[in-house]
Amino acid sequence: MMAVYEATATAPVNIACIKYWGKRDTKLILPVNSSLSVTLNQDDLCATTTARADLAFERDRLWLNNKEEEIKAGGRLATCIAGMRSLRREFEKTDNSLPKIAEYHVHIASKNNFPTAAGLASSAAGFAALVSALAQLYKLPTTPSELSIIARQGSGSACRSLFGGYVAWEMGTKDDGSDSRAVQVAGREHWPEIHALICVVSDIKKGTSSTSGMQRTVETSPLLQHRTSNIVPERMTAISKAIKERDFPTFAQLTMADSNQFHAVCLDTEPPIFYMNDVSRAIIATIVEYNRAAVAAGGEVKAAYTYDAGPNAVIYTLKENVKEIIELVSHYLPHAVPFKDAYGLFAGTQPVGR
Ligand code: PMV
Repeated sequence: MMAVYEATATAPVNIACIKYWGKRDTKLILPVNSSLSVTLNQDDLCATTTARADLAFERDRLWLNNKEEEIKAGGRLATCIAGMRSLRREFEKTDNSLPKIAEYHVHIASKNNFPTAAGLASSAAGFAALVSALAQLYKLPTTPSELSIIARQGSGSACRSLFGGYVAWEMGTKDDGSDSRAVQVAGREHWPEIHALICVVSDIKKGTSSTSGMQRTVETSPLLQHRTSNIVPERMTAISKAIKERDFPTFAQLTMADSNQFHAVCLDTEPPIFYMNDVSRAIIATIVEYNRAAVAAGGEVKAAYTYDAGPNAVIYTLKENVKEIIELVSHYLPHAVPFKDAYGLFAGTQPVGR
């Protein structure tokens, strides 16, 4: 009987606290600043990808949510597949008994377990799952950090979904991108009390893609230069420390400040980019007031909002406040009730792809 070469892997969505915005190399996807995110629970929001290699396949093919996507020559999908194939080729050279499956074409099928209506960027989970499935198919002895270098070339933020828990993407300094990779700052088990509430404000596709938005910001925003040189390096150190010390108020303040600055940089772009809408801003006001009241009552900051390239809010909070915040958002902003499936999301699970 012929051997079957097939593997399946999953990878969760991640939501950045310190945002990645801007590329210094658009082909290799090298960022202008480091970033840090929390990987969400594997069971709630993830991509599942199956990859199969077969001598009988005539070309590489890929299906996303049952629809075939074109693998354009030189495009991001092709780059990731080629990167993984070349790792397999190197691996085959180290051991003659390994079947020469790097020469076979692959068929890849990927599905998201969350509705597109959630308006969540699925490319991060998608490219991380793609790279993980190929790593398993090829039985590569690679670490998640090594795989993150290839996932990064699919979608920058995908590199952080190779790990669970709290993950930094170190921007690196080398021109070939070999040190621009993800590292785990802390596992989920280090601080499992953190929850992420996803508030779906709109499921309309964003007007400016992250790729074109970033390019415009890099070309036109004077504020971006200040952010990358003077702000983000200190924030990366401070938020890593807050995570290690499980210091929620500091974590929350840095997360909100960085979301604000990312959107300020978008506004500083020519022509300006607006990702948030009035409901997004009303959620900000609600969380600000919630935190003000908590501090006025002698307590501490209890929640942090953050927004990516769209109007939907993610609210980070500790488990004990989840119910209260859902009630608050449901009461004041009935149109932005936290997405049902996201209730009780924990920060990530295990590293994937191994
Ligand atoms: O990886 P991309 O091209 O989808 O860009 C993601 C950019 C943000 O989501 C806005 C920030 C981030 O760090 O995830």
